[in-house]
Amino acid sequence: MLRRNGSCAGSPSEGAVEQPAEFGAPRPKFRIKGLTKLSESGETILAGVNMDIPRGIIVGIIGPSGSGKSTLLRALNRLWEPPAGTVFLDGDDILDIDVLALRRKVGMLFQLPALFEGTVAENVRYGPALAGRKVSDAEVARLLGLADLDPSLASRNGSELSVGQAQRVALARTLANDPEVLLLDEPTSALDPISTQNIEDAIVRLKKTRGLTVVLVSHSLKQIQRVADVACLVVDGEVVEMMEPSDMARAHHPMARRFLELST
Ligand SMILES: Nc1ncnc2c1ncn2[C@@H]1O[C@H](COP(=O)(O)OP(=O)(O)OP(=O)(O)O)[C@@H](O)[C@H]1O
Ligand SMILES: [Mg+2]
Repeated sequence: MLRRNGSCAGSPSEGAVEQPAEFGAPRPKFRIKGLTKLSESGETILAGVNMDIPRGIIVGIIGPSGSGKSTLLRALNRLWEPPAGTVFLDGDDILDIDVLALRRKVGMLFQLPALFEGTVAENVRYGPALAGRKVSDAEVARLLGLADLDPSLASRNGSELSVGQAQRVALARTLANDPEVLLLDEPTSALDPISTQNIEDAIVRLKKTRGLTVVLVSHSLKQIQRVADVACLVVDGEVVEMMEPSDMARAHHPMARRFLELST
């Protein structure tokens, strides 16, 4: 069902009229159309990315350093403003969605976690408090557990945590907003293998139980093969392959072959 060059089943061809969801393939969670970004000096960072991100699946993004993976991810919750008519969430141009509402729906975890000042529990309660919702102690404990943390950490100060613990608090904080989409930018690069596996399990469980859509940038092809339903290869600001992770060996792009040979 997957084809090369960023198109997958359900992508309309150029100029095609989009079918209402009830008449054809389900509408993708995200649709990205001709997304381009240039640096201030005019260099191409994203070169007209076209891709659909189907709802309720895990899309793994892999590609060399500097190829534009984080830039692509950051467009999806407007950490930079993509041009109008290039990024759609549930059919709506994300520029037409209130930015805070968008970020509650589309949570993000960065390569390096940044906690707010205060305790772990205060961090977890932050997002819902902005929306006027109080999170109980039991709910804080449940969210910490989802992120593979012991609930006893709730009263600790965020600044006392290891990078790996802080990353998991950041995951719990993001999940507290009950997001529909999780954007994960190398979320396990600071974690030990056991925590990595627990976080991977949690992500897969959230997909299965809550229908969460996940976009996971990872340098580990093995991680993509463990958790993702679709693998997407980004090279020089372009999506050059989209395929089932187990099919990577059939990829055409030479960079895909390099990743396979060097995969860890
Ligand atoms: N704000 C910016 N201004 C200018 N150039 C930028 C900016 N942000 C990113 N870039 C450049 O865009 C390119 C893509 O960067 P990006 O961070 O998206 O890559 P990446 O694929 O996530 O890399 P890595 O695997 O190392 O995290 C790089 O050449 C980077 O230097
Ligand atoms: Mg990056």
